[in-house]
Amino acid sequence: MNFFLINIIKFLAIFSSISILISCDKNISDEEKVNSLLEKMTLAEKVGQLNQFNGGWYSTGPISSDNEYNNKRVNGLRNGSVGSMLNVTSVEATKEAQRIAVEESRLGIPLLFAYDVIHGFQTMFPIPLGEAASWDLEMIERNARIAAIEASAAGLHWTFAPMVDIGRDPRFGRVMEGAGEDPFLGSVVAKARVRGFQGEDLSEKDTIAATAKHFAGYGFVEAGRDYNTVDVSNSTLWNVILPPFKAAAEEGVATFMNAFNDFDGVPATGSHFLQNDILKNRWNFNGVVVSDWDSIGEMEEHGYSSDLSDAARQAINSGNDIDMESAAYLNHLEDLINTGQVTESRLNDAVSRVLHLKLKLGLFEDPYHYSDLKREKKMIGHLDHLNAARDSARKSAVLLKNDGILPLSKNNQIIGVIGPLANDKDSPLGNWRARAIPNSAVSLLEGVNAAVKNSENIIYSQGASLGISSRGFAIPLELNTTDRSGFQEAIKTAQKSDVVILCLGEDAYQSGEGRSRTKLELAGLQKELFYAIREVNENIVLVLMSGRPLVIGDLVDNSKAVLQAWHAGSEAGHGISDVLFGDYNPSGKLPMSFPHNVGQLPLYYNQKNTGRPGPGGDVFWSHYNDSPNEALFPFGFGLSYTTFDYSDLKINNTTPKIGDDILVSFNLTNAGNREGAEVAQLYIRDRVASNIRPLKELKGFKKIRLEPGESKLVTFTLNQESLGFYSSNGEFLVESGDFDVFVGGNSKETLKMSFKLED
Ligand code: NOJ
Repeated sequence: MNFFLINIIKFLAIFSSISILISCDKNISDEEKVNSLLEKMTLAEKVGQLNQFNGGWYSTGPISSDNEYNNKRVNGLRNGSVGSMLNVTSVEATKEAQRIAVEESRLGIPLLFAYDVIHGFQTMFPIPLGEAASWDLEMIERNARIAAIEASAAGLHWTFAPMVDIGRDPRFGRVMEGAGEDPFLGSVVAKARVRGFQGEDLSEKDTIAATAKHFAGYGFVEAGRDYNTVDVSNSTLWNVILPPFKAAAEEGVATFMNAFNDFDGVPATGSHFLQNDILKNRWNFNGVVVSDWDSIGEMEEHGYSSDLSDAARQAINSGNDIDMESAAYLNHLEDLINTGQVTESRLNDAVSRVLHLKLKLGLFEDPYHYSDLKREKKMIGHLDHLNAARDSARKSAVLLKNDGILPLSKNNQIIGVIGPLANDKDSPLGNWRARAIPNSAVSLLEGVNAAVKNSENIIYSQGASLGISSRGFAIPLELNTTDRSGFQEAIKTAQKSDVVILCLGEDAYQSGEGRSRTKLELAGLQKELFYAIREVNENIVLVLMSGRPLVIGDLVDNSKAVLQAWHAGSEAGHGISDVLFGDYNPSGKLPMSFPHNVGQLPLYYNQKNTGRPGPGGDVFWSHYNDSPNEALFPFGFGLSYTTFDYSDLKINNTTPKIGDDILVSFNLTNAGNREGAEVAQLYIRDRVASNIRPLKELKGFKKIRLEPGESKLVTFTLNQESLGFYSSNGEFLVESGDFDVFVGGNSKETLKMSFKLED
């Protein structure tokens, strides 16, 4: 055959590939397209669509060292035994893998490319917990939108975000990835993130599919130890854990990821109750459920599956659609079907979910839809994105203490900038940083220098390094506990300074997956450094960079001001300096309680009253003998450079009937002399219920900007959804009886009124 003929045949082979054909006819519904494709697929090709492999150069779990198996990955693209990949990024890399799948496999079904785009792709925003501290849903949605624009420009179709696990225990390193401890805040933030990633239409080339994870209960790993067992009540499941997942599903999230943990004695990945009963049947979720990394394989370790084949059977029958990285489906699903242990209709259901997603993303019409080198070059790290990152860094910062030293004057004073994180250009990028360029963040020192302009007034000393090991995603930080060689210079810097900005906290990799901690005080030599500086200069402004609430009580007592800055992203230094020098009036509020000590954990504001709330005269009430019960800083807390007064709380009807909306209003006044924004919060307490309700539950918030002296009437509506709760069986109930309503600037200091809900 001559060359010309061979090429014509190749051309026909490619463009007559079934997948391309089915997509061309606009008159055929997606359902028909998927069904017609399913009819053409062999069993092996169907299984292939459910198999997700790692690209191989970046991992978040153990990687196989078996070369034969690894070769199978590439061959898998050719023989249709891989349906999606994770951790393949860039137009070039995704295009090449896509080319093999589309041009060299029998049916030419395009691949999906997924990646953990958690708080930005290259431009980093504050870690999700930090973003949540802004309570600014527009900002959060915008950031997810930008992350999607950058990720899709790198050829990606799908992010494994948002993580919507509720976090009550800062020992768990992954609290950095969620929206904190509250199900209401968690739900609205989940919706905003899903909207941002997915936009209006998944087939647009700058939108990507989102994932609500980790379904369910992963935030409740016992004692905060990652991958540990979970043992919570059904009441907590329905009222605390599930609401953000439900919210994400209602917002149309394309995929769910299950979890490493067990729930009620069954691994979440094999949980019929969670995946089939709740997610797919009750919530009618018709998207894709992906396993977590090898979480199907791990069902053996859990002691739930006798071998990998058993695990594959249990996972697919309980609702898990895609197998990430365990190859359980690849190696066993065909047999399971042939022996009748898994029905073909279940297999078809799982495959059709994947094909529908590919259709929605527009991949059948154009598999290279997202592969545009020009867009990649133009959009990734765009200046507008950096500006948004700066805006986010300042909105996420939470002012925890200020005796008046802040905002700092830019003139006529010497400012010492000290600490292991003060000139760190990497830690602000945080963990789960996708394709952020290492050391690319604006450090706090750089931010301060840029703000002050007269840089002669700024003197810097590191004091002590935080760690002595090399950094990396998988390498834990080896703490510096011995090298004090920088102390003397730092002390001299403090002596020469009018004010010291001391920047302490956590390295980017001290929080995140696999980074559980039992000690939450500042690690390494940081405390020692703090007190050495404090000896010579009392004017300490403590800036904390961390991925979680830390134990900081004594440092707060010994500082003039404390700013919780989290890992604030690419523009951290600029954003934090905007706050320190008053170019931005802080407006962040804590999405998680800050404990006095680790012994209080888990700690959260929406606790139940107990039968012995006290305080009692003796010891027989629910308390610690050596610590307060309350948080050091409660949920919702955050100061401003102005103050806000709450007054005239009113309820439109103090004897409403079930079904009535209740209007709650109050006056909010900016009582200081600076313009500022306040997050006004609304809580309720259902005093008596058939399933005990917490002392306070957040039911609404509004971020309101006020000029000095300005007052606004703020109104909230409490509807049936706000007043009801779930029984242990998952039944939604609204019960008559007495309710309290609270409004205020945090979960502790509130105005209160009551009403009686009548039948
Ligand atoms: C394990 C993590 O638990 C999950 O959140 C992540 O998406 C996957 N690894 C893939 O990286």
